[in-house]
Amino acid sequence: MKLWGGRFTKETNQLVHNFNASISFDQKFYHQDIEGSMAHVKMLAKQGILTEEDKDAIVNGLLGIREDLENGILEITAEHEDIHSFVEAVLTERIGEAGKRLHTGRSRNDQVALDMKLYTRDEIDELSGLVKGLLTELIKVMEEHIDTYMPGFTHLQKAQPITLAHHIGAYFEMFDRDFSRLSDIRNRMNYCPLGSGALAGTTYPLDREYTATLLGFAGPTLNSMDSVADRDYLIELLSALSTIAMHLSRFCEEIIIWNTNEYRFVEIDDSYSTGSSIMPQKKNPDIAELIRGKAGRVYGALVSMLTTMKGIPLAYNKDMQEDKELTFDAIDTVKGCLALFTGMISSMSFRKDVMEASAKNGFTNATDAADYLVNHGVAFRDAHGVVGQLVLFCIEKGIALDDMTLEEYKAISPVFEQDIFEAISLKTCVEKRMTIGAPGQEAMKKVIEIYKKKLEQ
Ligand code: ARG
Repeated sequence: MKLWGGRFTKETNQLVHNFNASISFDQKFYHQDIEGSMAHVKMLAKQGILTEEDKDAIVNGLLGIREDLENGILEITAEHEDIHSFVEAVLTERIGEAGKRLHTGRSRNDQVALDMKLYTRDEIDELSGLVKGLLTELIKVMEEHIDTYMPGFTHLQKAQPITLAHHIGAYFEMFDRDFSRLSDIRNRMNYCPLGSGALAGTTYPLDREYTATLLGFAGPTLNSMDSVADRDYLIELLSALSTIAMHLSRFCEEIIIWNTNEYRFVEIDDSYSTGSSIMPQKKNPDIAELIRGKAGRVYGALVSMLTTMKGIPLAYNKDMQEDKELTFDAIDTVKGCLALFTGMISSMSFRKDVMEASAKNGFTNATDAADYLVNHGVAFRDAHGVVGQLVLFCIEKGIALDDMTLEEYKAISPVFEQDIFEAISLKTCVEKRMTIGAPGQEAMKKVIEIYKKKLEQ
């Protein structure tokens, strides 16, 4: 059963076997392990290291194993140390002698480095697809709500009016950066470690360029020590996943606030909400809360991985086996969160009227009132002071700036004229903000076009 039993005189202690084994989790990449082995033997045959007959027997054997695993005919069992041992053992059992030649010119160190890279690369592609799906959904909301006015906040205090499209656009930017981070990582990691052997390469005339090409890599890695010891790309990925989780968490936090009885800006769909076992009236935003909560475990994976790697001398050490569960969990968690979040957003209703009403109170047009004075020759600092007095007056009377009479305005500053009301209307406040990146419709439309073009690529 063991790949390394030769020099041992005693059986492995059972607890040691269990503690050392990785098959319970590295079976997740059986597909990639087999793909890597097929490329390896094709290269060995091309180089004359393996006969054509042996290569064919191995490739067919591996294809059979993969098919039987996929159909559930073959089961991965715990007595094997890892997925690599399992595949080799079953292969040899099935095809005999040729199976024993599979591992020629290879170590589990470069094998596992390859498998993990192949697996991660596939998962990055899936993650990118999910982020793109979310971006597409956000564009839809933006187009629908280009004139849905709402308050923009700083310090969670009403600040200036914006539109829902503009607010959502901020998240588009974040997730768009996440998308490009994933593709950066993919490009940087896309070099093939196979052929690095245990740490020092091999004495066989391997064609590493060839296996790299067969497996879709940009080329072979250039240092065999680094090849088997490098987990930077996982740290980068976990960092990118942590950032995605953080963005999702922030967005969820806002949705939770917007969904409260006090705000009522949105209503999460029944299909994405849950109830209470005791309080019949409750409809809770559990999904948003769970996504917010799961950021913690993704960050945990990043910190664990950094900590695991920090004291490891070159080259391979078994500590690195710890990379797998962390990474798998973080990837699966973020994939789940992205899918759930996209579903929640696409089924959620936005209350235009409530948002607009909210933008109308809370003095979100105070800056525009000050700007009005500036446009009539008042220095900004003085204008700021005048509008501060207006706000104080309104707070005492319990009214909005829009509700004051012109006489009341003039009593505080004679500069005000009838056109102040137009200047501080919600529509003016938003639509006059026309520079690129601002919430005004014209600016927003241009930006949405840019986003759509990006998504088409
Ligand atoms: N299960 C191991 C891992 O995940 C595979 C590599 C084993 N190599 C070794 N020299 N023991 O890292």
